[in-house]
Amino acid sequence: MSTIQFIKNFIKDRDVASITPTSTRCVKKVCNHIDFSKDITIVEYGPGDGVFARYLLDKMTAGSRIIMVEANKNFSDFLRDSINDSRAEVHNVLAGDVIEILKPEDIGNIDYVISGIPFSFLKPIRKVKVLESTKTILREGGKFLAYQTSGHLKKPVKHVFGNVQTKREMLNIPPYVIYEVIKNGAS
Ligand SMILES: C[S@@+](CC[C@H](N)C(=O)[O-])C[C@H]1O[C@@H](n2cnc3c(N)ncnc32)[C@H](O)[C@@H]1O
Repeated sequence: MSTIQFIKNFIKDRDVASITPTSTRCVKKVCNHIDFSKDITIVEYGPGDGVFARYLLDKMTAGSRIIMVEANKNFSDFLRDSINDSRAEVHNVLAGDVIEILKPEDIGNIDYVISGIPFSFLKPIRKVKVLESTKTILREGGKFLAYQTSGHLKKPVKHVFGNVQTKREMLNIPPYVIYEVIKNGAS
C-alpha cells in the first residue's frame, strides 16, 4: 500500500492509530519470539497493510497458517487483494470477535497471537474481552505478542495472563513497547 493510502486510512479511521506501517526492525524484534522451525498457527489482530504478515509468510513453514483479523475494510480488502498465499486468511471483524471466526478445532490451539491494535482506545470492558478471548484461543505455552505506544497494557495483561515481559523499541514511528506474554507462563 502506498504511504498516501496508509495516511488516508489513518485520517479517516482513528483506530488505525499510526501514520506509517511498523518498521522492519521492530517487526523482527516482535517476531524474534516466534519459533519458525515447526508448523505454527498465528492469529494477527490489526495487520494493517500486512507488514507483519508478509514477513511471517516469508519465514513460516509450508504447513503453517496466519489468520488476520482487521477491523478496517480498506485494509482487509487490500490484504485479500495483495496477499496470494493459501496459508493466509483475512477476516474483516473486530479482535474482540475472534472466537466467532475461528474453526472450533483452532480454539485453544493457536501458537501465537500478534497484536498492533491500539488497546488504549478500547473501553476497559472491551479490553478485557480481547485479552480473555486471546487467552482462550491460545494453546498452553502459546504466546501473546503485542506492540503498543506505552506500558499501559501491563496491568490488564498481568491480570488476565499472570505474566508479562516488556522491551522498548525506540527506533520506530511511533516508539513501541513490545510485550511478550505466555499462556500459563511463570509470573
Ligand atoms: C497501529 S496500526 C498497525 C498496523 C500494522 N500491523 C503495522 O504494524 O503497521 C493498528 C491496526 O489495527 C487495526 N485495528 C484497530 N482496532 C482494531 C480492532 N479492535 N480489531 C481489529 N483491528 C483493529 C487498525 O485498523 C490498524 O490496521
